[in-house]
Amino acid sequence: MTPKTITMSERPAVPHEFLPENYFRRQSHGDMFPEADSSRALEVDIGCGDGAFTSALAAALPGRDFLAVERLLGRVRKVSAKAKRLGLTNLKVLRLETNYTVCWLLPENGVSRIHLLFPDPWPKDKHENRRVVTPELCAGIHRALTPDGEWIFKSDHAIYFEERLEVIRATQLFKEIPWDEDAVYPITTFEQQWLDAGKTINRVRLVKL
Ligand SMILES: C[S@@+](CC[C@H](N)C(=O)[O-])C[C@H]1O[C@@H](n2cnc3c(N)ncnc32)[C@H](O)[C@@H]1O
Repeated sequence: MTPKTITMSERPAVPHEFLPENYFRRQSHGDMFPEADSSRALEVDIGCGDGAFTSALAAALPGRDFLAVERLLGRVRKVSAKAKRLGLTNLKVLRLETNYTVCWLLPENGVSRIHLLFPDPWPKDKHENRRVVTPELCAGIHRALTPDGEWIFKSDHAIYFEERLEVIRATQLFKEIPWDEDAVYPITTFEQQWLDAGKTINRVRLVKL
């Protein structure tokens, strides 16, 4: 019997998708936005979901560039559709895992702000290793941020939030600073769901030390 030939087909990129040429080296601002002035601020939204937050922020702050990171293809497609519909030249989406992206792909000292908004809390003890905020991630975020760079972390889950805040504090890599109530900071899709359900939003604004 003649063996069957299996042909591999590539998934076509969606509009506004950032496809690194080499996944085994750090990506510069210019790799992500070749047409932009790389002195512009770069912000990264990790676990961006449907991109409602990132696209609203990118529309509000056209002088900055935004990389939205998400592992689920359906959500990547939603971010892509929003960026296309709004004509956002300053928004790209990367389909990749958070920890790998932060620790191995983001430029060192190159990201002005990192947003980690409503990561899955994985409350069961047996799922502890799925909780995204670890000392390794903290070190990766610290490495990626510019000297005065900020990390914004929000969660609806109070126990998870406090526990992860302890992980962050133990690293001694960041300082907590007051929230800027006047700053543009759109509500995310998950945040809206929690607000509608009457939940309290826990949040912290950290600056790199
Ligand atoms: C609870 S949702 C929050 C989405 C969005 N930040 C918001 O607030 O609307 C968490 C998102 O993170 C994504 N996610 C979870 N673990 C991830 C990982 N390890 N790498 C990349 N994305 C991840 C999920 O697919 C999901 O879209």
